[in-house]
Amino acid sequence: MKVIVVKSQQEGAEIAFDLLKNKLATGAQVLGLATGSSPIEFYKNIRQSDLDFSEVTSVNLDEYVGLDEESDQSYAYFMKEQLFSAKPFKKSYLPNGLASDLAAEVERYNHVLAEHPIDFQILGIGRNGHIGFNEPGAPFDGQTHLVDLAPSTIEANARFFDNSEDVPKQAISMGIANIMAAKTIVLMAYGQEKADAIKATVEGPVTEEVPASVLQNHEDVVLIIDEAAASKLTK
Ligand code: GLP
Repeated sequence: MKVIVVKSQQEGAEIAFDLLKNKLATGAQVLGLATGSSPIEFYKNIRQSDLDFSEVTSVNLDEYVGLDEESDQSYAYFMKEQLFSAKPFKKSYLPNGLASDLAAEVERYNHVLAEHPIDFQILGIGRNGHIGFNEPGAPFDGQTHLVDLAPSTIEANARFFDNSEDVPKQAISMGIANIMAAKTIVLMAYGQEKADAIKATVEGPVTEEVPASVLQNHEDVVLIIDEAAASKLTK
């Protein structure tokens, strides 16, 4: 696991952008994408670049259950705003959180992933160490699945909704095994509230209680973190 400590999200975004550019130049065809605040500057760099994705496919990590793509809190909406309207891909996949048959939707998404092995995966991390929406306890061999969100995640997300009842309680998320299958993984984390999760991810035991700790077992992972997120690391 390579850890790069940066001064700002802008600096982190530039590093992640360069990594992506190199991967595309060497033939990457499928990008795994993440939502959340951490990759926002990275997506801005892409929007302002001359990169072309018309021959590239994207697969997103996760989506809430119950929100449609017109809802400004859905991940489909986020991706359109942050990236897809400026940089259309050959094809972009997200789980459909409005599917009437969620089990069938989960299965469909696993087929999508099997057909599109991820070359370059972007990740954020939750305060409890979750990746995608793989909450503590999610099995390391898990595929795409329906998730009951942890109370701490629902609480962290509540700030984005007018009404606490509107915060989704479930999501569809790639599993840990899907994430680990990506050839290269770049995780970005900024701010003091991520410091415990980063310490456990980098220096703690590899345990399902800290989903991101599994990344210690992957051979091509780069963590891009600011000084606040790095503040509890001892090495
Ligand atoms: C959500 C998303 C994760 C994301 C995390 C952290 O739970 N499902 O993919 O990494 O939030 O978000 P942020 O980058 O806003 O801190």
